[in-house]
Amino acid sequence: MRRPFVAANWKMHKTVQETVAYARDFVPRVEAVTDVDIVIAPPFLALSALVEATANSRVRVAAQTVHAESHGAFTGEVSLGMLKGSGVTLVIIGHSERRHLFGETDAGVNAKTQATVDAGLTPIVCVGETLEERKSDRTFEVLDRQIRDGLSGLSPDQVAALVVAYEPVWAIGTGRNATPDQADEAHRHIRQQLVSQFGDRAAACRLIYGGSVTPGNVAELRARPQVDGALVGGASLDPASFAEIVAGSRPTAI
Ligand code: PGA
Repeated sequence: MRRPFVAANWKMHKTVQETVAYARDFVPRVEAVTDVDIVIAPPFLALSALVEATANSRVRVAAQTVHAESHGAFTGEVSLGMLKGSGVTLVIIGHSERRHLFGETDAGVNAKTQATVDAGLTPIVCVGETLEERKSDRTFEVLDRQIRDGLSGLSPDQVAALVVAYEPVWAIGTGRNATPDQADEAHRHIRQQLVSQFGDRAAACRLIYGGSVTPGNVAELRARPQVDGALVGGASLDPASFAEIVAGSRPTAI
């Protein structure tokens, strides 16, 4: 059975001080949860503080993006070595905001994913269609391209160990989540695509859903066999709300 995986994506929210206060509140709330992988991705500046504030817990810390090169003249960028040195163990790659607002391409996602795996960190690779793509019946075509090009060159074992987040762009930050049927259908398709590209071993890859996940809808999404967890934006900013989402993702909750 695949272990549930729930990640908070804070985007450009919270200062270092707010991050530490959040951790103090959140960590005790999930102390008893031993059957879910719990991850928080704060802004770069708060990474070290969050690593420190969660040191005695099971909560792990992710970056929201990274640069694929190890060092060099890349003003404003952060490398995997820097993240690793700060105790970060996962990286979100190819979030739709990175793709649509900052011009990230599938080739860029591929370079970052390979570099992240090579550095020994776990990528959380985001894929998902826009509303226009869904309406014109191109959802699967877009997902196939993002998976094929984004993960090309990885070994089956490397794919099995990473996390893919299915985040339909129209559901992100809109309050309009995909229905459990839509999420399950997309996840099933992604898993088939992974298996046809990388072989049976890749079926172990965890597929999580993102897009307007809340304490109120997480259980019905997680109840679908293909939905292994959630990537949560807005509803992760409040520690009580995110702790409820973690609780609703436990194998015993569904
Ligand atoms: P949301 O964001 O939960 O606020 O829709 C999800 C995400 O962008 O990862």
